[in-house]
Amino acid sequence: MAKIIGGVTTSHIPAVGNAISDGLTQDPYWKRFFDGYGPVHDWLAEKKPDLIIVVYNDHGLNFFLDKVPTFAIGCADKYDNADEGWGLKPTAPFDGDAEFSWHVAESLINQEFDMCTCQEMLVDHGFVNPMRVLFGDHEIWPVKAIPLAVNTVQHPLPSAQRCYKLGQALKTAIESYPQDMNVVIAGTGGLSHQLQGERAGIINVDYDLACIESIINDPDWFANQSTQEIIEQAGTEGIETIMWLVMRGALGEKVNCLHKHYHAPISNTGAGVLLLENADL
Ligand code: DHB
Ligand code: FE
Repeated sequence: MAKIIGGVTTSHIPAVGNAISDGLTQDPYWKRFFDGYGPVHDWLAEKKPDLIIVVYNDHGLNFFLDKVPTFAIGCADKYDNADEGWGLKPTAPFDGDAEFSWHVAESLINQEFDMCTCQEMLVDHGFVNPMRVLFGDHEIWPVKAIPLAVNTVQHPLPSAQRCYKLGQALKTAIESYPQDMNVVIAGTGGLSHQLQGERAGIINVDYDLACIESIINDPDWFANQSTQEIIEQAGTEGIETIMWLVMRGALGEKVNCLHKHYHAPISNTGAGVLLLENADL
C-alpha cells in the first residue's frame, strides 16, 4: 500500500529560483535561508521517497483569472515548467504518475472534494521552486511529482478549514492506493507577505511563528481562522499558508517535528521550513 512518510513546508518565492541559477545560495543575503533546508535534504536522501505531492497555488500561468478551479490535481505523466514573468529559466520537466493521480482524484471526489482533473498542467514557481530547494536541480528528477493546486489568488478562496479537511481526505486517498509507494506531501507558499497595495511589504513575525507552532501541535487554531482574519494578520499573499494545512491534514493527529526553521525577510516574505513525521510511524 502507499504510505505517507512525512510532510514538509517551504516558501516558493520566485527569487529563490534565480538565486539557485546564479549560484548565490551561500551569498550573505541567502545563506541563512538556504541553510534552513539542510536537515530536510538529509532526511530526503535517507528516505528516498517515490513520489511527492506538491500543494501549491498557480500564479496565473496554468490558470488565468478567467478560469480558476478551487482545487485542481495534475493527472498527467509529465509536467512542463514555464516562467510566468519572473525571468526564471525553465527547468527540466517533471515525471508524474497519472495512474496514481487518477486514484487520488477519484477517492477525493468520492469524499466530496470535487477536484478539477488536469491531463495537461504547466507548473509555475509555486511548484518548481519547492522542488529545486528540496531536491536541487536535475535533468531527470529523482522523484515523481504531482501538482495539487489550491486557489489562493482569485476570491472567493477555499477556507483554511476546507484545506485542512482536503488534507485529511488526501490521506485516505493515498493510503488506499494498492501499490507500495512512499509519499511525501509538501505544503508551499507563505508565510506572511503582501506584494501590492498600501500594506505591501508587511511581515508579521509573531503571527508566522504562531502559525508554525499551530501546524505542528494544534492545527485547529489556524484551521479555524477565516480568510479575512488570516489576510489581516499575514497580508493578501500570506493567505498561501492555508496550503500548509493540506499537508498537515494528510499526516496523523500527532506528529513529530524533525526540523523547523524560520527566516524573515527573504524577498518580500517570512519563510518557514518544517519537516514532520507521523508520531505513530
Ligand atoms: C514573493 C512570494 C511569493 O509567494 C510569490 O508568489 C511571489 C513573490 C516574494 O516574496 O517576492
Ligand atoms: Fe506565491
